Amino acid sequence: MLYATLRNKVEIPMIGFGVWKVDNETEAPAAVVEAIKTGYRHIDTAAIYKNEEGVAKGIHLSGVDRSELFITSKIWNDDIREGKTKEAFEDSLKRLQTDYLDLCLLHWPVDGFVDAWKDLIDLKKNGKIKAIGVSNFKEHHLETLKEAGLMAPLINQVELHPQLPQPDLLDYCQDEGIQIEAWSPLMQGKFLDIPAFF
Ligand SMILES: NC(=O)c1ccc[n+]([C@@H]2O[C@H](COP(=O)([O-])OP(=O)(O)OC[C@H]3O[C@@H](n4cnc5c(N)ncnc54)[C@H](OP(=O)(O)O)[C@@H]3O)[C@@H](O)[C@H]2O)c1
Repeated sequence: MLYATLRNKVEIPMIGFGVWKVDNETEAPAAVVEAIKTGYRHIDTAAIYKNEEGVAKGIHLSGVDRSELFITSKIWNDDIREGKTKEAFEDSLKRLQTDYLDLCLLHWPVDGFVDAWKDLIDLKKNGKIKAIGVSNFKEHHLETLKEAGLMAPLINQVELHPQLPQPDLLDYCQDEGIQIEAWSPLMQGKFLDIPAFF
């Protein structure tokens, strides 16, 4: 497994198993067991995927120790808007049956994201999260955090693939020490239909 090293020295497995659209009861437990058996150690879920319990079941069934896994979840927009980041985080922990997250992201830069980011910084200081980051943030959102005098996110998870390479955002994040993480790197499978790439 290849790892990327974040600014705070946390190591993140470069290839993750995303569980967007994976059904909590009928799919998630078996899919996660199979992924872990295949060699994945990084699992990417989110409160809005509504499958954190299924992911926890899969992890438990896999028999692999929690400490060997890198688990990401994300704070959903309603909780960011309503100032409920800390409660939402604790709810995710309960559903995932764990007492810490390796990575917690603000899912989208909706109203309230600056205060939500302050809450994630607090949670990290309390040792409940190894790395904190954001998702779907453009340069100007990241600048807003900077202007507020807050630490830069360790990660920005964004849609990134050959038809959406986002070079300016990549350059900005590289300069600021923010690791870019791709979502839908295979364009939800459509990548394989583009003859130019093969
Ligand atoms: N932060 C965000 O806002 C955000 C947004 C979207 C996604 N994400 C995260 O990123 C993860 C990955 O996104 P994604 O699911 O869109 O990823 P993706 O890797 O771009 O696409 C995965 C899909 O590609 C298809 N595929 C893969 N290998 C294939 C092959 N050999 N032949 C044909 N089709 C193939 C599969 O489709 P079939 O299912 O049809 O087999 C699979 O579901 C998500 O699960 C989620 O964790 C985050």
